[in-house]
Amino acid sequence: MSVGLPFSVALRDRTRTTHESSNGAWFMQDLMSGKGTRDDYISLVAQHYFIYRAIEAAAERMQSDPVASAFISPRLTRLPAIEADLSFLLGDDWLDQIAPLPTTQRYVDRVTLVGATWPGGFVAHHYTRYLGDLSGGQIIRTLMQRKFGFQTNGVGFFLFDEIAKPKVFKDTYRAQLDAVDWDDAERDRVISEVLLAYRFNTELFEELALANAAA
Ligand code: HEM
Repeated sequence: MSVGLPFSVALRDRTRTTHESSNGAWFMQDLMSGKGTRDDYISLVAQHYFIYRAIEAAAERMQSDPVASAFISPRLTRLPAIEADLSFLLGDDWLDQIAPLPTTQRYVDRVTLVGATWPGGFVAHHYTRYLGDLSGGQIIRTLMQRKFGFQTNGVGFFLFDEIAKPKVFKDTYRAQLDAVDWDDAERDRVISEVLLAYRFNTELFEELALANAAA
């Protein structure tokens, strides 16, 4: 850990390359460039359902933790929006039509484990998903709306109605990261967990590309 560097800056610096390989995964590139199909998009939303169900169940447990609770906000909650998107995209029996891929299951198991035992690890997973959704997620939303003609139905996951200014929200979130009283060893562990979260996302994109190519 560099002396004096705010934790949020160190975190961003040390995860930059991994972020790039995650958003550079073929599955994501195809979706972003317009090559991905509506079914590709739906398959990603379906995996999000399992991931956010785990993160938001962990958030409920972590409400009583003094460190983790500072990051938890009902304004971030995504599960109801994902459920509504899947109902719109797949119909009322959407839950019968989806299943977690192996990487998703491993991701869910990890989130569930740290969400029950380790506040720093929980914050790592919380940060990786929600700050990403408030950043690149907004670019993805615009492209999906353009390509598939969605208004709000189908992309509700990306719409944070109660966060008018994502930049302000993210700045506050980073200030909260900087304010936590973690020592250098714990900060390193948290950064490692963020790297792991990125890897789950990248591997999920790889698995989705294979699953959809085989379909
Ligand atoms: C095509 C896909 C993606 C694009 C285009 C993209 C783009 C971006 C951009 C432009 C930012 C910077 C925003 C800012 O400075 O405020 C950002 C930040 C971020 N992204 Fe992504 N991203 C993508 C995928 C992902 C994925 C898959 C994850 C992880 C699940 C992720 C997690 C994050 C996080 C955590 C940040 C915040 C970094 C920080 O400021 O601390 N992104 N993304």
